[in-house]
Amino acid sequence: MCGIIGVIGLSEAAPRLIESLRRLEYRGYDSAGIAVVTETGTQRRRAAGKIRQLESVVEEAPLSGRVGIGHTRWATHGAPTVDNAHPHTSGPVTVVHNGIIENFAELKAELIAGGHLFSSDTDTEVIAHLFDATLKSGLKAKDAFKAVLDRLNGAYALAIIVEGESNTLFGARRGSPLVVGWGEGEMFLGSDALAVGPFTNRVTYLEEGDWVVLTQDAADIHDAKGFRVNRPITTVSASAALVEKGAYRHFMEKEVHEQPESVQRTLSAYLDPVAKSARADIKAAIDFNSVARIQIIACGTAYYAGCIAKYAFEKVAGLPVDVEVASEFRYRTPAMTPGTLGLAVSQSGETADTLAALRWCKGEGLKTAALVNVHTSTMAREADLMWPTHAGPEIGVASTKAFTAQLAALLSLAVAAAAQRGRIDATEEARLVQCLLETSGLIAEALLMDPDVQRITYELSKARDVIYLGRGAMYPLALEGALKLKEISYIHAEGYAAGELKHGPIALIDENTPVVVIAPDDELFEKTASNVQEVAARGGRVVMITDAPQKVPSLSGDAAKTLKIVKGPTCDPFVAPLVYAVPIQLLAYHTAVHKGTDVDQPRNLAKSVTVE
Ligand code: AGP
Repeated sequence: MCGIIGVIGLSEAAPRLIESLRRLEYRGYDSAGIAVVTETGTQRRRAAGKIRQLESVVEEAPLSGRVGIGHTRWATHGAPTVDNAHPHTSGPVTVVHNGIIENFAELKAELIAGGHLFSSDTDTEVIAHLFDATLKSGLKAKDAFKAVLDRLNGAYALAIIVEGESNTLFGARRGSPLVVGWGEGEMFLGSDALAVGPFTNRVTYLEEGDWVVLTQDAADIHDAKGFRVNRPITTVSASAALVEKGAYRHFMEKEVHEQPESVQRTLSAYLDPVAKSARADIKAAIDFNSVARIQIIACGTAYYAGCIAKYAFEKVAGLPVDVEVASEFRYRTPAMTPGTLGLAVSQSGETADTLAALRWCKGEGLKTAALVNVHTSTMAREADLMWPTHAGPEIGVASTKAFTAQLAALLSLAVAAAAQRGRIDATEEARLVQCLLETSGLIAEALLMDPDVQRITYELSKARDVIYLGRGAMYPLALEGALKLKEISYIHAEGYAAGELKHGPIALIDENTPVVVIAPDDELFEKTASNVQEVAARGGRVVMITDAPQKVPSLSGDAAKTLKIVKGPTCDPFVAPLVYAVPIQLLAYHTAVHKGTDVDQPRNLAKSVTVE
């Protein structure tokens, strides 16, 4: 939810901290701040709002020093104000934090009773005062740091400066990711590899419970029990080029248009284009004959990808699949049957609820898998099996290319399962594989819908409510379309199974409520077309996304005027969710652009929800 960075460098820290925070803004952006060790001690600069507000503050009052920490915030405790912006300080201690300290209230009361004065409503400030108080008790900084960590309950990734401990940073992770960056005579701490990407591509991923004392050229890493450990140094590919917008107005627009390539990259990890089958290494990693059912756990867009996967696995592989939002699954004591595969689907691989649900499955002795876009994420490292997507870094908070990459992987796995379980023969496997291998071209074709979609979004941007309808695998896609619209344009939108319309939602239909119907030509098309007539007959304004406009029933009166058809590519129903994800993404994007909202960083959101 927040992004943190720490630098022990050979050059001015302030501009480097700002540059890193710009890369971390996707993790949260309602306030930001930096602290630098200067000749006159540790100085802070903080600002509410985006990183550009902080840049102005630093320009007006520059800071000079080579060691510093920085933070971009998604508020959990305390409003997004300057006083609540990190870093937080007490005496010689200055802290930035990502996570939630669950016992902060009792610690705060204890510290106030000990004479400490607080200046914020945050949980984080407690860490600064506790570290300060522990130092005053006479412990050396390293021992004091460990003693502080032992008292914290909850999730944290920390970067801490202690005046007097020159050229030193203290870092720790529990429940929130943290990496050590290795430079040439410089060292870094960051929430992820992107954060330290401008300075180094050599990183160490701290493990759960690890803490570290960082100096100019060394990382003294300890595990949760306090034992010194060595963690591997990995060279990562997170390069500056991967996180630039290029010619696009927004990262989201760029990422929507990257989908032909990102889907192709992902498919190549699962399918063998020569053998026209699922890859041998994919089939070697798991025998789906030993899987009685799959329990998919995910959040948001990843959850809708799981819902679409259910249709594919059950139809082609005959494999039962349950899909549940992780925040419900993890607390309801679900009844798991033997032979269940617990599958976490997560772009970031760090979402707190999904990670907790995955850990619950592990605790129950289930075999677990994680389908992730960040291959070194916590879920990737904790699941028994890691299935990668290759979407590349997704900076836009609204998930687009990660979503279609998830679908590409999941549909490929459904084919692998079907083949292993003998539900399809080699001919059918080859046919389905070919359908998938063609989606990259079909997605490129779907991107050509952009002008048609743009033409209807101005009107859509005036709506107060929008309804999305779909049948079969288009139903979860309708749910995803509604989420895309609401999260970036702030227009209220709901997705429904088209067959459900007459069981209540049709009462919402009037001339002020546009209805988006996702209806590629398949065996359910006629039924969905009759739903279009139901809507039109009640004066509803319909936007129909279909490849079969010739099959749309003729409408009479005003209905005929209001129906808008956006023609999409013809494709096999098995891959339609991948292809028709594009127009619903474009619909949301252009509507939001008309609304003038912050498309890449919508209000109240963050890219990686690493707190509950
Ligand atoms: C998607 O557009 C949203 N930003 C959000 O729902 C996201 O899909 C969800 O938070 C899950 O994130 P994850 O895939 O990283 O677990």
